[in-house]
Amino acid sequence: MTDSRTIDIAPSILSANFSCLGEEIAAVERAGATILHVDVMDGHFVPNITVGLPVVKSLARATHLPIDAHLMISEPGRYAEQFVTAGARMVSVHVEADPNLHRTLMSIKHAGGLAGVVLNPVTSVLVVEEALQYADYVLVMSVNPGFGGQQFIPGTLDKVRRLRRMIEERGLNTRIDIDGGIDRSNIERVVAAGADIIVAGSAIFGTGNPEQAARELREATVQWV
Ligand code: DX5
Ligand code: ZN
Repeated sequence: MTDSRTIDIAPSILSANFSCLGEEIAAVERAGATILHVDVMDGHFVPNITVGLPVVKSLARATHLPIDAHLMISEPGRYAEQFVTAGARMVSVHVEADPNLHRTLMSIKHAGGLAGVVLNPVTSVLVVEEALQYADYVLVMSVNPGFGGQQFIPGTLDKVRRLRRMIEERGLNTRIDIDGGIDRSNIERVVAAGADIIVAGSAIFGTGNPEQAARELREATVQWV
């Protein structure tokens, strides 16, 4: 794919140093990151616990970057709207966690946010076929959700391609977000496959120099911009 489109680099704070989160975020802002990815985990939908509404609220005041709240929680419909109110510009919910997806997506939009649908690595793209028209973006998990620093699952590249085709065939503007195991070695391939928003945690905050790491990832995508 050689078309011109907007590629967003979205650092995931999961791998950041939480004792100086403000400085970590300022570093990736300087590097040209365009979205801040915040992983919300409840210890139920995934075997890990992270942050929630108060942290999103504080971050929204501390950065001008739009916040993408990736909800890895059971019953996301109970909380999705509150994340928009707390300051998240984008809120994404897992299809595996929500039998009332349409209602949840609408609640995010009515609150003024952008609504995203998330697919675990082996959840078929066909599951979101019907939801595509209601979603602003689809987040493809390229690792199993719950932890940073895992290895990219190569089969998800073809999944991104199929999803891209599905979106284009329907004439939709739904964007594709990809999350998990992205680094310098594979970022060009995921963008070529059709991803627009690239989440990276350990490849940015797991390095000694988050600013430089984020800049390098961004520079690796400039041929598409
Ligand atoms: C995993 C999270 C990711 C995580 C990615 O469940 O959704 O956002 O932070 O981390 P890396 O880039 O290290 O795989
Ligand atoms: Zn995430």
